[in-house]
Amino acid sequence: MEDKLKHLKGLQEAAKLGGGQDRMDKQHQKGKLTARERIDLLLDPGSFEEIGQLVTHRSTDFGMENQKILGDGVVTGYGTVNGKTIYVYAQDFTVFGGSLSETHAEKICKILDLAVKTGNPVVGLNDSGGARIQEGVSSLGGYADIFYRNVRASGVIPQISAIMGPCAGGAVYSPAITDFILMVEQSSYMFVTGPNVVKTVTNEEVTSEELGGASTHASKSGVTHLTAKNDVHCIEQIKRLLSYIPQNCEEQAYDLPFELGEESRPQLRDIVPENANQPYDIKDVIDGLVDEDSFFEVHEQYADNIVVGFARMGGRSIGIVGNQPMSLAGVLDVESSKKGARFVRFCDCFNIPLLVLVDVPGFLPGTDQEWNAIITNGAKLLYAFSEATVPRITLITRKAYGGAYDVMNSKHIGADFNYAWPSAEIAVMGAKGASEIIFRRDIKSADDPAAKLAEKEAEYAAKFAHPYRAASRGFVDEVIDPADTRRKLIKAFFMLKQKVDHLPKKKHGNIPL
Ligand code: HXC
Repeated sequence: MEDKLKHLKGLQEAAKLGGGQDRMDKQHQKGKLTARERIDLLLDPGSFEEIGQLVTHRSTDFGMENQKILGDGVVTGYGTVNGKTIYVYAQDFTVFGGSLSETHAEKICKILDLAVKTGNPVVGLNDSGGARIQEGVSSLGGYADIFYRNVRASGVIPQISAIMGPCAGGAVYSPAITDFILMVEQSSYMFVTGPNVVKTVTNEEVTSEELGGASTHASKSGVTHLTAKNDVHCIEQIKRLLSYIPQNCEEQAYDLPFELGEESRPQLRDIVPENANQPYDIKDVIDGLVDEDSFFEVHEQYADNIVVGFARMGGRSIGIVGNQPMSLAGVLDVESSKKGARFVRFCDCFNIPLLVLVDVPGFLPGTDQEWNAIITNGAKLLYAFSEATVPRITLITRKAYGGAYDVMNSKHIGADFNYAWPSAEIAVMGAKGASEIIFRRDIKSADDPAAKLAEKEAEYAAKFAHPYRAASRGFVDEVIDPADTRRKLIKAFFMLKQKVDHLPKKKHGNIPL
């Protein structure tokens, strides 16, 4: 037995060396960690159990039969993060550039299947030159096997993808299907076709970084939800993200211990300016409402006229969607609608209650918006809120105008509690625009049209620029003192913990994609 154990140990040691020390050194020189170092950082110490360490490829073309490396370019297994089980795969760039062979794909599929069967999240650490060129269609089939499983697992278990090196061609579609993408600045990129093909087809000169680097995808395309300064920062963010989400769609995220105390927050009274046209930072409202330092924003650099992220309220994980008056006055447009809708659907998949903060002047007008389908895209947000069965609470801090009032988790589309601050203005539109339309004739025929407009504006504002009409109809449940808001929200979320709501029986809805 001793000899046999020695042989086994030798194989294990060889597998751990991946593509060899030289290639590991190269990885480090690029500022990147190796696949195993990344897994060690991600998981609780000593918790990793590797699966498929001795797998090798089956390729016999191009002399590949003489180049077999144990593990075949991906380290797979399970372990715990803060005591909770996750499945993980990390592509090993030191082995054939982390390229995906048939067997490499089979290892990832095995992990995905186990994660679904056991109801645990999957984290994929991507660092790969794409399809294993020596294998041809076997490799392409392997990708499709992964995509298929990603889709089947969607909404069942959380799936997180970190891009920590190259991710090109069809390889981008597995991360794209998963729930969250993180990218490391300067050392990762994602694109369907790289700079050389782009140059040939469109004659554009572009670097990999410009075409598909972390900052491009964080701000321009919105493909990535989070960016990281380096590998260590990336892994830290994955751990933080996991802390807000449950293991699967049947469970709740874990609560931190909490006892209701003196929850008054008088500073919230001073955030919304007297002048309704003056901006303020909705993140100040969020920080004032949630448990200290608990707000974790995602998609920060994309469509910043809407803010989305996780936080804790009375120890409980919640998702927040808020209009941001600091950017485009918090208006809803194509991108912010898509961003909000995707986040709402994630929270609803995984039983994370929603807090919606409303200060919205309406939808953004213009040909650009109409031709880019603000109708279809705005409908996504409306649809996402309407079908969400998680506890849903809305707080109108200031403007709630027009269709955007309906869309932003109004009572009419199923919100459980709708609060408003006394500074709320709930109407079809702002007083000036409204007066210009309905009193046009009066204003035109007046001796002093400007004075008439001001008079009519004041009249309209007195009628509608407040929350009391909505409160009198029951569309707002309560108008509350900002200082009391945190306490009210904690109690409401606590009360809603037992909420049960089901959609009508159907195959699946048809969200306007
Ligand atoms: C096999 C590969 C490989 C691949 C890299 N290697 N990519 N082996 N298949 N796809 C190997 C290299 O031969 C090299 O081996 C080692 O990995 C490191 O690669 P380098 O080129 O030295 O590294 P670097 O300079 O950092 O460049 C990385 C890279 C480049 C930009 C990823 O390797 C590259 O362009 N690779 C090809 C990318 C590609 O065209 N992939 C197919 C995309 S199409 P040695 O032995 O020298 O260390 C696709 C379709 C998927 O993926 C469709 C799904 C539906």
